[in-house]
Amino acid sequence: MKSPEYSTGITADISDISPNFYRTHAGRYAEINKLGLQRIYVKASHAGLKRNRSLVKHLKKLTWGIRGLDAGCGAGALDVARLLEDGYDIFGIDVIHENIQTGVDYYPHLKGRLWTSDLAQKLFFPDGTFDFVICNAVIQHIPPRKVYSTTLPELVRVLKPGGVLQIMFKVGKGIRTVFDEDYGERRNFQLFQEHEILTRLNKDGMNLIESHDDEGLGGLMYFTNPKGDRNCVFYTRKTGWLETLNLNLPKGDIQSSYKENGLKQIL
Ligand SMILES: C[S@@+](CC[C@H](N)C(=O)[O-])C[C@H]1O[C@@H](n2cnc3c(N)ncnc32)[C@H](O)[C@@H]1O
Repeated sequence: MKSPEYSTGITADISDISPNFYRTHAGRYAEINKLGLQRIYVKASHAGLKRNRSLVKHLKKLTWGIRGLDAGCGAGALDVARLLEDGYDIFGIDVIHENIQTGVDYYPHLKGRLWTSDLAQKLFFPDGTFDFVICNAVIQHIPPRKVYSTTLPELVRVLKPGGVLQIMFKVGKGIRTVFDEDYGERRNFQLFQEHEILTRLNKDGMNLIESHDDEGLGGLMYFTNPKGDRNCVFYTRKTGWLETLNLNLPKGDIQSSYKENGLKQIL
C-alpha cells in the first residue's frame, strides 16, 4: 500500500500546478536552495556524484568556452551567481518572473543576465549562442509533448557546435505527486524515461558524453535526492564542431575519418 503522502499516476495537468507553487514560494525556495540541503545526493550511481556542485565541477572540464545558460535557473539563480563568480559569462532564464526578481534581489549584479522566458516556447537567443547549457530539474514541470517538440530542440539550437548540455530530470512514467513538507503543499512532477530523452537529443544532433576521468562522471548517471526522488543526469555534446575546424580537407574525408577514428564515441 502506498503512503498517503506519496502516489504516482496521471493526477493533474503539470502545467497548471507548478507556476502557482513557484510564484508563491520564490523567496523560501531561494533560501532552502542556498542552504544546499536538497542539493546533496544519496544513493548515487557514480562515486564522484555527490551534489549539484559535483556536476558543475565536471561541466567546467567539459566545456570548451565560458558562455553558458542556466535554463530554468530557479528562484535566487544560485548557479548563475556562482558561475559568474568563477569567471563564466553566464545567463539564466526562468518562466516565473518572481524567481528572476528574487535572483536580482539577492545578486543585483546579475541584472541584465537573468530573464523571464518560457522553455515551452521558442527562445529569443540566436542559434549557437552558448558553449554550455544547464537544465536541472526543469522539464519535470513541462508537458512531454512540449519538451520533445520545443524545449529539447531549442536547448540544442542555442548551443554552439561542440557545446555541452547538462540535463537532469526525475525518472519514471506519468506524474509523481508528493507532499512537500518544506512548503506544506502537494506537488506534481512529470517523470521522463532517460532513453526517450537521449534518443530525442541524439536526433537533434547531441551525443552522450561517456566517463573518461578519475571521478568517473559521464554516461547515464542516477541519484536519489533527500526527498526520495530518483533522478537521471547526463552530459551530451553537440555535433558539427569538427566541420568548423577548417582542416582544408574535402568534406567526404572529414566525415569518413570522423567515423573511422570513432571520435564520436570518445567525445
Ligand atoms: C526545481 S526548480 C530547479 C531550479 C534550478 N535549475 C536548480 O537546479 O536549482 C525548477 C525551475 O524550473 C522553472 N520552470 C518550470 N517550467 C519552466 C518553463 N516552462 N520555462 C522555464 N523555466 C521553467 C521553475 O520556475 C523553477 O524555477
